[in-house]
Amino acid sequence: MAVRLLHWMLAGLVLFCWIQDDGGRVHRSAGYVAAGVVVARLLWAAVAGGHGSLASLKPSTAATLAFLRARAPRCIGHDPLGLWMVWLLWLLVLLLALTGWMSRLDAFWGDDRLQHVHAWLADGLLVAVALHLLGVAVMSWRWRENLPGAMVTGRKRS
Ligand code: HEM
Ligand code: HEM
Repeated sequence: MAVRLLHWMLAGLVLFCWIQDDGGRVHRSAGYVAAGVVVARLLWAAVAGGHGSLASLKPSTAATLAFLRARAPRCIGHDPLGLWMVWLLWLLVLLLALTGWMSRLDAFWGDDRLQHVHAWLADGLLVAVALHLLGVAVMSWRWRENLPGAMVTGRKRS
């Protein structure tokens, strides 16, 4: 339940930051809340068990290769390949909050390099989310399973 709620909050906040991208008060607040959602998700992982736990979030090259060699068998939690994307998405959101915050410090007054980095990260996040949606679509089709539906109801056949 918490994982799903946090996911849709994150998606909504990121979407909002892309649309309202003027760097104004609302943009900044939404961006910080998005970073907070990521932190909350990681804290949740630290206390929760099962498919949302920290152990299940540990990416592994060996598991990813095995997963690919087995031609992407169905998984109940994150599949090993998708897990890399999960971390990339979280990392980009955290870096966006960091660069957004830093770009407004007195130390960087008159220096727009950080704003460029911020804009690149935002573009990178756009590409990553597109790949994320593609991944969800491909795996839904391969596994004959409504993954976005499971992300709403929290139910998957075992
Ligand atoms: C999920 C988080 C965020 C996303 C996706 C995001 C995305 C963006 C995008 C797309 C732009 C327009 C860049 C351009 O082409 O000029 C922008 C600008 C800006 N953002 Fe963010 N942002 C996020 C979080 C934050 C946070 C937390 C701050 C905090 C202070 C912030 C501060 C700014 C500022 C000051 C600008 C204006 C830069 C300018 O004047 O050109 N952003 N952001
Ligand atoms: C800006 C938009 C989005 C971002 C940043 C994002 C990010 C993420 C992240 C970080 C996870 C891992 C969740 C966790 O373990 O806490 C995830 C999972 C997931 N997302 Fe998104 N997401 C976005 C939009 C969407 C949309 C629009 C859909 C539906 C069409 C979707 C469907 C899913 C599904 C089905 C999963 C579970 C994948 C699995 O079982 O491994 N996401 N997303």
